[in-house]
Amino acid sequence: MGEKQISRREFVGFLGVSSAAAILNACTPLKTNIQAAEGVEPDLELALRAIPGSVPVLEGAETRVWRYEGEVLKGDATALQTIPGSYLGPIIRARKGQNVRVHFTNQLPEDSIVHWHGLHVPESADGHPRLAVGSGEKYQYDFTVMDRAGMYWFHPHPHGRTATQVMMGLAGLFIVTDETEDALGLSGGDFDLPLVIQDRTFDSDNQFVYDLQSHAMTGFFGDRALVNGVPDYQFSAATRPYRLRLLNGSNARVYALAWSDGSPLTVIGTDGGLLEKAETRDFLLLAPAERRDVWLDLSERNLGDDLTLVHKDPARPGSEETAILTINVEQEDNTRLLLPDTLSMLNLHEEEAAVNVENPRAFNLSMGMGMRWLINGKQFEMTAVDKNEAVKLGDVEVWEFFNEPHHMMGNLYHPMHIHGLQFQILERSYDTKYAQKDALLHEGQVDAGWHDTVLVLPGERVRLLMKFEHFEGLYLYHCHTLEHEDMGMMRNYRVSA
Ligand code: C2O
Ligand code: CU
Ligand code: CU
Repeated sequence: MGEKQISRREFVGFLGVSSAAAILNACTPLKTNIQAAEGVEPDLELALRAIPGSVPVLEGAETRVWRYEGEVLKGDATALQTIPGSYLGPIIRARKGQNVRVHFTNQLPEDSIVHWHGLHVPESADGHPRLAVGSGEKYQYDFTVMDRAGMYWFHPHPHGRTATQVMMGLAGLFIVTDETEDALGLSGGDFDLPLVIQDRTFDSDNQFVYDLQSHAMTGFFGDRALVNGVPDYQFSAATRPYRLRLLNGSNARVYALAWSDGSPLTVIGTDGGLLEKAETRDFLLLAPAERRDVWLDLSERNLGDDLTLVHKDPARPGSEETAILTINVEQEDNTRLLLPDTLSMLNLHEEEAAVNVENPRAFNLSMGMGMRWLINGKQFEMTAVDKNEAVKLGDVEVWEFFNEPHHMMGNLYHPMHIHGLQFQILERSYDTKYAQKDALLHEGQVDAGWHDTVLVLPGERVRLLMKFEHFEGLYLYHCHTLEHEDMGMMRNYRVSA
C-alpha cells in the first residue's frame, strides 16, 4: 500500500560496541515471606500464571515462549483482555481506588516473581527478587490502585533471570483509569491503542535467539521489531483521533520514533499518566520501560493513506530507518475531538520541600572489572541497604544519577528505574566532552510529567525529585537495560518511619 520502502532487514542500534562475555555474579535467593495485607475484600481478584507455551509469530513453526495467562475470579470480567495470537500477557484494566488481589502461580521450570512496574504498592506486592517463588509455587498480591490513570505494566523480577524471562515473552500491561481522565473524553475503546514495542532475533526454526552472557555489555539488540508480539504490525484505522499508548518493552534498545511523513508527534502522557499540556516532538525517544501516550489525529487523512512509525537514530545521519508499525487509513469516521489545552493537574512536589535540596543523594553508574555493572561502586546484594540508600517515610528528596563514561568500553545508556513511586525530572546537565552525538537525542525527550524511568546518557547527570509515601520497606532501583540489571546494576533502598 505504501510507496515508501523501509528496510526491515536490520535494526540499527544506537551503540557501536561489540558484546563480550561476562561473569555472572552468583547470588543466593532468600526466601523470606512477607505477609500480604489480608482482610481487605478485593474488588478485582485475578489468577495469573506464568507458563511455557508456543505461539505463531512468524510464518511456519510456532515460537516457544513463556507467557502470562490470566483469569478473572471476582469482579469485572472485562478487566482482563487477551491479545489474540500474542505471547504478551493479558492487559489488566483497573480503576483507581480498586483493591486488587492477584494469585500468581509460577508454572515455569525456574523461580519467578511478578513486579508491577510503576505502581505505588506495598513492599509485599512489589515483586522484589527475594520474594521469588519456585516452580509450582504461588504468591499472593494484595494492593490498592493508588496511581493516576495511566499505563503501567508487569513483568518478572527474579534476580539474574529477569532479562531472559522477559525475552521469553513474560510481560503485560496494567492500565489504570480514573474519573478525572474519563471527564476529558479522550479517544477510548477501539481508538485507544496500547502498543508494546519489542525486538527479537529468531533462528531458522522461528525460535528466539538469546543468551544473557553474550549481551551483558550493551544489552540485547534484536533484528526484528515486534509490536504487541506481532512482526510487521499494521492496523486499519478510521479518519478520527486516536490515543496510542506506547511502551518500550525491549530489554535494551532505545527507540527514536518518528512518523514517516515527517509530521511531529503529539505527546500527551508519560510513565505516570497524562501531561499537563501536550508537547510536540519531531522524534520521540523511548528507553526501555518508558511509556508515552501519543495523540494521533487522522481526521484530515484520506482513505488509502498510510502512515508508518519508524525508528531512526538521529545521532547517526544516514542510518537506516526501521519500520515499527504501519497505520492504514481505511474507514470513514466523522468523530471530531479536540485535544483539551489542559489535560491534567500534575500536583508536583516542590523542590524546596526536599530535605536534601542542597545535597542530592548521588548515584554513580559505572562498570567495574570483569564487566560488572555498578551503582556507587557496588553490585546488587539481595537484602543489603547502604547508608546512602536509607530514606525516611514522608520525605521529599532529590536524587542524582550520573552516568560515568567508560573510556575503554564505549559509552552506554542507562535507563534508571525506581520502584514504588513516580518522580519528576528536575534537571539534566550534560558534558559535551562525551559522545557529542548523543546531545541530539535530548530533542526527543519529554521530561515533563510523572516518570518512573529516566534515560541517563553517557556523561549526563540527571536530578530527580520524589516523595516516599505510605509504605515502609525494601524497594529497588536499577538500570532497566535488563542485562545490566541482571548483571548487578541494581540496589535496594529502604523506606523507614
Ligand atoms: Cu520494570 Cu524493577 O522493573
Ligand atoms: Cu519497576
Ligand atoms: Cu544500564
